[in-house]
Amino acid sequence: MNKFARKYLFSILAVAALAFAASTMTHTSEAAYFQSAKSLFAQKCSVCHANDGSGNTAKGKELKVRNWKTDPEVKKMTDAKMMEVTLKGKGKMEGYEKTLGKEKVEMLVKYSKELMGK
Ligand code: HEC
Repeated sequence: MNKFARKYLFSILAVAALAFAASTMTHTSEAAYFQSAKSLFAQKCSVCHANDGSGNTAKGKELKVRNWKTDPEVKKMTDAKMMEVTLKGKGKMEGYEKTLGKEKVEMLVKYSKELMGK
């Protein structure tokens, strides 16, 4: 291999290594994001919505919480509407804008969408 080819090969390897590092980093932070959404949901929301979003808890039944897996209203609901409900509250559900802040609410709404299969 001549000097030029070696240099060329080295750059390709360096780029590939960087790309790989970047992709695993994104992957890890996505997993971490999902994990913190999941535990925050368990702390703040699952009393009523249940960990799986079915609403199948004592409190959920009492308040007639919708089953996110099957309810057609929920399937039709826009992201904006879900943000609004979670930030400001609606009916028997309190708003979380003050206690959690917009960023965490956004994270929880994304997570809720996962549970809804959206
Ligand atoms: C005290 C029980 C309770 C808790 C805790 C609760 N919710 Fe709710 N949630 C409800 C009820 C009841 C509704 C339906 C409100 C209505 O339409 O009158 C609702 C509605 C929603 C909706 C709109 C979709 C739907 O089912 O109508 C979203 C999204 C939502 N909740 C997310 C959350 C998130 C995220 C949390 C945690 C930060 C949370 N909820 C905590 C009771 C609760």
